[in-house]
Amino acid sequence: MFLHKALSVTSRTAIRSSQLRSFARLSSTMVPKLKDPSLFKQNVCYVNGEWIPASSGKTFEIHDPATSKLIGSAPEFSASDVSNTITHAATAFESFRHLTGRERSKLLRKWYDLVVANAEDLATLITWENGKPLADAKGEVTYAANFFEWFSEEAPRIYGDTIPSSVPGNRVFTIKEPVGVCGLITPWNFPAAMITRKIGPALAVGCSVVVKAPGETPFTPLALAELADRAGIPKGVVNVITANENTVEVGQELTTNPTIRKISFTGSTGVGKLLMKQCSSTLKKLSLELGGNAPFIVFDDADVDLAVAGAIASKFRSSGQTCVCANRIFVQRGIYDEFAAKFAEKVKAFKVGNGFEDGITHGPLIHHRAIDKVDQHVRDAESKGAKVVLGGHKLPDLGENFFQPTVLTGMTTEMAMAHEETFGPVAGLYPFDTEEEVVRIANESPVGLAGYFFSRDLERVHRVAEHLEVGMVGVNTGLISDPASPFGGVKESGFGREGSLYGIGEYQVTKMVTYGGMGKRLQN
Ligand code: SIN
Repeated sequence: MFLHKALSVTSRTAIRSSQLRSFARLSSTMVPKLKDPSLFKQNVCYVNGEWIPASSGKTFEIHDPATSKLIGSAPEFSASDVSNTITHAATAFESFRHLTGRERSKLLRKWYDLVVANAEDLATLITWENGKPLADAKGEVTYAANFFEWFSEEAPRIYGDTIPSSVPGNRVFTIKEPVGVCGLITPWNFPAAMITRKIGPALAVGCSVVVKAPGETPFTPLALAELADRAGIPKGVVNVITANENTVEVGQELTTNPTIRKISFTGSTGVGKLLMKQCSSTLKKLSLELGGNAPFIVFDDADVDLAVAGAIASKFRSSGQTCVCANRIFVQRGIYDEFAAKFAEKVKAFKVGNGFEDGITHGPLIHHRAIDKVDQHVRDAESKGAKVVLGGHKLPDLGENFFQPTVLTGMTTEMAMAHEETFGPVAGLYPFDTEEEVVRIANESPVGLAGYFFSRDLERVHRVAEHLEVGMVGVNTGLISDPASPFGGVKESGFGREGSLYGIGEYQVTKMVTYGGMGKRLQN
């Protein structure tokens, strides 16, 4: 699979000697073949239409989660590098906001076309730095591209309102304006899609953006930036920066710099709370897509085979590393044993390994901290009486980041898995007796992102969908993500919606204009 040696670095700027040393070391790194090697950007970030290193020359290393081998390095941006980037984004905003919706639409469409045309290379980068199987990575590229397509279609359709005034003779209307320069902070689990989901609406309405790419997966975002450049997105409108050790200071700059008018963050609830606190100093508009603890409920009137397929799709997507993965699988007692047997049978068929290998269905987790958490959850459940029906252990022979797809039965709410997001390939099955009981337990969580249930009873379908305290409900399906649907949570899963018509509003401010003394009657 690893066909040739490290690709040359594309940079329009001078390269410092420390970087040259690091390139020399990287030249022994084996990298997967890309059709277009210039999409692989090392040691440079995309700022104001230029590829530049960190002002300090510092870089950090990124490792392949499957092999633990070095992939390459990326710039360690500092707060002052971020501040300069924001200044460029602010200059770009002043002209970009005045393009027509149709002009912005065409730019997004061009970017979409380029993402589609380069899908294989983008998928290769995703698998390499994130670990997910190549087929899943290709699926992510399609998902990511679709956000550009969807929002390119919205860009020319940004309407305000006319409002009947309560004051005689007054006329009231609203203008939807772009909020300004946006700071977008994105996670490693979808290196492409979580970025396009934020950039799509931002550009559609006329904002410029500074994207902080995740330290684990910077190369896919940088490749997207290269495609933005080729699409002719005006310089400074899209900026992609990287940091690892400096992530806290970069986050601090993005959330306190007064020029940034909006922050959109996808990640943990803990970090979301911190960013929100920091944003309060300049009262920024905020969207937070934070952690979940998704209940997945199978009632005894469900189609069991369909429910098993839905649970597999939801729980094991990206090896359990999505915020909407089923985290607590509740199965009504009458069908519990049948469901558990059929579910375990499906999980047994998984093939775990390097995502580049044919037939692999599940790749590694992102790093050893993820493995440690998963292992702790299994050990905790086991010590409190759960039965390990399948898996349950690390897979050191495959590499340090692999864990067996695991099925646990006899789960109870005393176990850590009932309260914390596992973010890994471990499915715990909880028996329950009544609808009232399971909905109460499902809602006993401070977070509420996604929830799923399977039932063929129409009345129950409406009742339970209305009672679950989550932002998104899947009924008789384990997959709910779609650029056309509003994605987001309630409670400590955050607020704001991404994708869909609602995603557009997150990047706008509503300006109200009142015309006074206009009268109603025609003049004689
Ligand atoms: C996430 O894990 O935050 C996003 C998952 C999705 O878009 O489906």
